[in-house]
Amino acid sequence: MHSIPFSLDFLEKKCILPTMLRHQPVLASETFAQLPSHLERFFDGTFGHGGHTEYLFTHRTSSPLPHVIACDIDETILHKGLEFTQSRTANITPILDTYAHIHQIWTNFWPFDGMLLDLGVNMEHFKQGERGFSLSRNGPLDMRFSAKNPLTARDILHTYAVQQLEKMLITYGDFSPHYAHTLAQGIEQTRKTQPLETTEQLTALLRNLHCHQKKIAVVFQTLRIETNQELQQLETFLQTFGDQLTKGGRCMIITYHSIEDRIVKNAFKQLVTSSSWMFQLVHKKVIQPHYTEIQRNPAARSAKLRIIEKC
Ligand SMILES: C[S@@+](CC[C@H](N)C(=O)[O-])C[C@H]1O[C@@H](n2cnc3c(N)ncnc32)[C@H](O)[C@@H]1O
Repeated sequence: MHSIPFSLDFLEKKCILPTMLRHQPVLASETFAQLPSHLERFFDGTFGHGGHTEYLFTHRTSSPLPHVIACDIDETILHKGLEFTQSRTANITPILDTYAHIHQIWTNFWPFDGMLLDLGVNMEHFKQGERGFSLSRNGPLDMRFSAKNPLTARDILHTYAVQQLEKMLITYGDFSPHYAHTLAQGIEQTRKTQPLETTEQLTALLRNLHCHQKKIAVVFQTLRIETNQELQQLETFLQTFGDQLTKGGRCMIITYHSIEDRIVKNAFKQLVTSSSWMFQLVHKKVIQPHYTEIQRNPAARSAKLRIIEKC
């Protein structure tokens, strides 16, 4: 099952939007229950609104508190996260970068005892129509986490060949080859006559191609993954994080998409069987949220947590 991105509409209808929107950390208690007892330096690779880091500071009883390297690729989100955690500034070093650069980040610090990636989007992304992530708030077809990223969703829709669009829709969206072809052809026909500039235009086009709301959400998610090269970022991290962990250190990854989970599962398996370091899986089975968490925070419903330890 692929996760469907939530529109702000959905959250508003469900009345779960607090007045000041702060992303709810997913699987927070499960994650921190598994942290190593010795935790001096922690890498929060997808800091977001700092929900997981805040949870760590609030629930960690042993002193001194760890130092957190708070990394996020999105400048707006990182600033907001630092505002939310401003009482903790002494224990936080912010880094505006991709977590895939962990090997470069590490050279300025000591190795980490704990690492967390909580992949995907922040609820804040849906709030800002001008970022292009929302189905319900019109905006330019941007969808970039980082303004430095040269590729936008608009570029993909205008420059990818029909076969590339099809491949993207099949791989990331799980569309059938036939349906992916129909969508890719529809995009090709439209862009010949009228540039696709806004999320509203894309939504209207997809509706004309008989896409219902859930499928439209999947197309948006597919474009977001491609725009930000999300799977490539994850793969780069998985090839390098091992060297940056201390012995006894643990790396935890929360995914929301079946392909991401498969990549993490296979990479961890590979590390256990054939790495030059010794690794072990902390849990053989994937950890998923309790239904009470899903009720409280529907965005958690497709979350999967995997943990590996360097021994
Ligand atoms: C699900 S949110 C994290 C929420 C956070 N754990 C919290 O509790 O507030 C995912 C975050 O990852 C960030 N992100 C996405 N790709 C990234 C990358 N390659 N490197 C660093 N951060 C990334 C997004 O900007 C977003 O803020």
